[in-house]
Amino acid sequence: MSRGPTPAAGAPVPAGFAERLIAWQRCDGRHGLPWQGTRDSYRVWLSEVMLQQTQVSTVLNYFPRFLARFPDVRTLAQATPDEVMALWSGLGYYSRARNLHRCAQVVVAEHGGLFPADARTLETLPGIGASTAAAIAAFCHGERISILDGNVRRVLTRLLAFDGDVAQPAQQRVLWDLAQALLPTAPAGDDMAAYTQGLMDLGATLCSRSRPACEACPMRTLCRAAEAGETAKYPVKTRTLKRRHESWWLLLLRTSGGGDPQVWLQRRPTRGIWAGLHCTPVFASEAEALAAVPPGVNPDAVVPLEPVAHSLTHRELRLHPLLLDLPSPAPMPDGQWVACSALPGVGLPAPLRTLLDRLPD
Ligand code: ADE
Repeated sequence: MSRGPTPAAGAPVPAGFAERLIAWQRCDGRHGLPWQGTRDSYRVWLSEVMLQQTQVSTVLNYFPRFLARFPDVRTLAQATPDEVMALWSGLGYYSRARNLHRCAQVVVAEHGGLFPADARTLETLPGIGASTAAAIAAFCHGERISILDGNVRRVLTRLLAFDGDVAQPAQQRVLWDLAQALLPTAPAGDDMAAYTQGLMDLGATLCSRSRPACEACPMRTLCRAAEAGETAKYPVKTRTLKRRHESWWLLLLRTSGGGDPQVWLQRRPTRGIWAGLHCTPVFASEAEALAAVPPGVNPDAVVPLEPVAHSLTHRELRLHPLLLDLPSPAPMPDGQWVACSALPGVGLPAPLRTLLDRLPD
């Protein structure tokens, strides 16, 4: 592999990048998303947290519902964790919801209900990392600061043919300095908003991971990776995520004695996978699950359902649902019987919600 020199911070960056990006974003970028066209930090913060690991098309369903229930930071701060979780259910990465709630409470308790205006202070709040802080400060206050999420990293490492290992914090700092050097020099009006959105739009549309549309890209004549025909080489990253494979058995107890059926749910521990959500009892083997059926019930009545695959950041889960219909709610430890009609208001892991929605009668 040929290794050109890694651009150091302060090394020349292509002239005209910012102006071109702003012009392209205004003409051809994404417009009309419900969190655009506002400088309201609450809305921008909420959208940025939702978009951290989730696609725009999914967030479009959640953002308006969340805002309708929690129209401002004070309403969110006063909500119960369960209410927040229920509305977040399905978006995944539930630590985001817990941090979101805590962040709202800190903004109310320590900042008089107003989000700080600068990225440095925003970054001290729960769940707000450097890139999210920069996005909020740039969108809402025109701060001259660059975002650098995964997509933007791909755009900039290609533009600059930056071949430092982005898994290394020292190289990330170099890249961040280069990102700062690319910013518009004298932003005017909404330039920082258009620039920031332009970086996001380029990364999400043309400068895609596997098949970048270089021929349609406004940066084609500035992009060092495109010029060398080496877009696939960037970003250079040595440490790649390895997911562990794990099987879980879900004991799905349901009452079937007429009327509104109920299911048995337990609250997940406050740490780990699906922390704080409600879930069926989970077991590491089928034998352990069968040993937990209520006393006096024949384990042969358990019906294994089709296994479901579910990917998490560090885990590939294979979920094995075991359905057991009971004539009436049996006494069970550490949980509660929940009416199926009440499930829309309960914070459930997304695959469990799908499973419960599709249970055989
Ligand atoms: N991804 C992260 N932030 C975004 C935004 N504001 N618009 C579209 N996609 C995004």
